[in-house]
Amino acid sequence: MSGNPTLYLDNCATTPVDPRVLEAMLPYLRGQFGNPSSKHAYGFEAAEAVEEARDDAARLIHARGDEIVWTSGATESTNLALKGLFAAATGKRNGLVTVATEHKATLDVAKWLGRQGAQVTVLPVDEAGLVDLNRLAEAVTDKTLVVSVMGVNNETGVIQDLEAIGRIAAESGAYFHCDAAQAFGKMSLDVDAFGIDLMSVSGHKIYAPKGVGFLYVRGREKKTAVAELIHGGGHEGGRRSGTLNVPGIVALGKAAQLAREELKDEQVRLRRMRDALHARLENELDGVLLNGSPACRVSGTLNISLSGTDAQSVMMACPRLAVSAGSACNAQSVEPSYVLKAMGYSTSRALSALRFGLGRFNTDEEVEQAATWVVDAVRAMRARRG
Ligand SMILES: Cc1ncc(COP(=O)(O)O)c(C=O)c1O
Repeated sequence: MSGNPTLYLDNCATTPVDPRVLEAMLPYLRGQFGNPSSKHAYGFEAAEAVEEARDDAARLIHARGDEIVWTSGATESTNLALKGLFAAATGKRNGLVTVATEHKATLDVAKWLGRQGAQVTVLPVDEAGLVDLNRLAEAVTDKTLVVSVMGVNNETGVIQDLEAIGRIAAESGAYFHCDAAQAFGKMSLDVDAFGIDLMSVSGHKIYAPKGVGFLYVRGREKKTAVAELIHGGGHEGGRRSGTLNVPGIVALGKAAQLAREELKDEQVRLRRMRDALHARLENELDGVLLNGSPACRVSGTLNISLSGTDAQSVMMACPRLAVSAGSACNAQSVEPSYVLKAMGYSTSRALSALRFGLGRFNTDEEVEQAATWVVDAVRAMRARRG
């Protein structure tokens, strides 16, 4: 942060823009400002950049460029996917099957669809944060239109078994929508291997700016009927109208290209830092509980509860550390995380949860510093309490 040496370990909330991404998008904010719909040199140049970015984004998930619909981010993509599928559905399928630990972008759309008459099933998860595949298979029937399960949970980093979920959806002829906001660029994703028909992605989780994302819509062997939500000039093949955010799209394309080139090494580095942070906290403090599956977890996320503390107080005691509490604050109260509650954890465990999100620009020294701050804060807090 300029002028403030805050240490940023909240990369699940959002990431800084990679300087290489900024470099790639800047020309489209300066001289190359054309509208890709325009039929002159400015427009052609912008359109070409958009198509190149489309191919880069598609390549990272083994899709085709023409299966990418640009949006403003994962929230819009999920709205388009789920509402769009139901609006276009003509047969007897009226069911949506999802999971209790999904992002609100999915759960709130599910609630809204329920009010419009959809049959919504919200499945529980186990203590590790994983959905029970047998229960999923029971819930998905020939009345199910879509199964919507996220790739990586934003609070715990837990990775669902996408391949198995895709198989269950396909066996009953349902679509599989995956919210991959926390998975894209963080783990390898293959829409064919995982049987994913629709995928929501956000730019600002992978070092591109906020306000850009896409929805992958399978368009090859299977025609995925998604009605448009935003009507207008017929952009994106009529699937999402509105003048394209060219600089943002170029940025997302560049971010996807960088992720393709660097993902493997980055995963190793993040896992090493994440495990070092976890080990120091465990070695130096009692009562450190890991929230979520230790094995099925994305590399950069560490969600732990520090027994006998509350996360808001730990954060206040570490004012130069930017992390997240596993709780949501509003003016009146602090609510325990619904994700951790759905995993069966007690309210006190949920209220003592801290989420560390390590990212591309974090260093070993920063991780050491963060561990020192948290250990000192928790020791002081516990000593005061006696
Ligand atoms: C899992 C998940 N889904 C959806 C979103 C929403 O993404 P966006 O900010 O691009 O709308 C987020 C971002 O917090 C997320 O983590």
